[in-house]
Amino acid sequence: MNVEGPLRNVVRASAPGKIIITGEHFVVHGSNAIAAAINKRATVSVSFSESSDIIVSGEEESNLSKDDGRFVAAKYIARNILKDKRGIDPVKIQIQSEIPIGSGLGSSAAISVATSAALLSFLGLEMDKAKINEFAKLGEQAVHGNPSGIDTATSLNGGIVRFNRSGGASPIQLSESIQFLVIFSGDIRNTSDLISKVAERRTAFRATFDNLTRSASFLSDKARLSLETGDLPNLGALMNMNKAALSWIGVSTPRLQELIEKILENEPCLGAKITGAGGGGSVIALPKPESGQAMVSKLSKLYPYAFLTTVPEVGLRLE
Ligand code: PMV
Repeated sequence: MNVEGPLRNVVRASAPGKIIITGEHFVVHGSNAIAAAINKRATVSVSFSESSDIIVSGEEESNLSKDDGRFVAAKYIARNILKDKRGIDPVKIQIQSEIPIGSGLGSSAAISVATSAALLSFLGLEMDKAKINEFAKLGEQAVHGNPSGIDTATSLNGGIVRFNRSGGASPIQLSESIQFLVIFSGDIRNTSDLISKVAERRTAFRATFDNLTRSASFLSDKARLSLETGDLPNLGALMNMNKAALSWIGVSTPRLQELIEKILENEPCLGAKITGAGGGGSVIALPKPESGQAMVSKLSKLYPYAFLTTVPEVGLRLE
């Protein structure tokens, strides 16, 4: 994507949220991980502002508040992009998001990617994926402290990717389409606090943690093979193993544990685990073929934000 052009009155961009299938947290410390885009998006519109400063506003239905991390990310990105651009009037950034905040579904990353792209395009600046990701990662850092970059890379590229810090994201070719069940527990948490908590555990148990990091990489490579060959039972088993490692590093909670056990015991499901930072947030499950909709109907009585997602191919989109 190389866009350099005249300024327009409004530029709108959207980007998807994400789920992490294997390797969260360990990816911060160098392991491979697998992540996928989901069918929930954030849309950002950029226009000139009458005000003397950058304005970030959420549309009413998005239910955003001023100290919401997404405002922080969008404003930080705008300040960085506009830093050296003298003579440009302040901009207004409007955010509309289908992705609940603090849910582990990549809301701030989707907003960061969409904000970077919309603003670069609005200002007629040259942009490519690397440039968009560079600014999007700044937004994520403003909110999450030390993110690995997996959230923005997945949101930007779409599809399903293998990611590590040194090599970035590479696409995985699915042998057949796949559906995941996503259940937001309703417990909002702070990714930055959880990343710090895990870093403390790593310091206290360094050798054990390093072994778990290597095993998360191995498990993610096996998960990639399962996705490429369509071996869903194996993928489900790998997700269950990853779940155990996440409990050990202290990011599970009794409520999440209970939800996962309920899914695994009672539902037609091949695997289930926390997705993202944990400490609350969301759980994902891999339903047996044809049983996803029945699981949603049952679980949504207790968890209103439960949905099935395919893996959309499109990441960032200039609307
Ligand atoms: O955005 P969250 O809360 O789903 O967490 C992102 C995944 C982590 O591995 C915990 C952090 C990271 O940047 O990789």
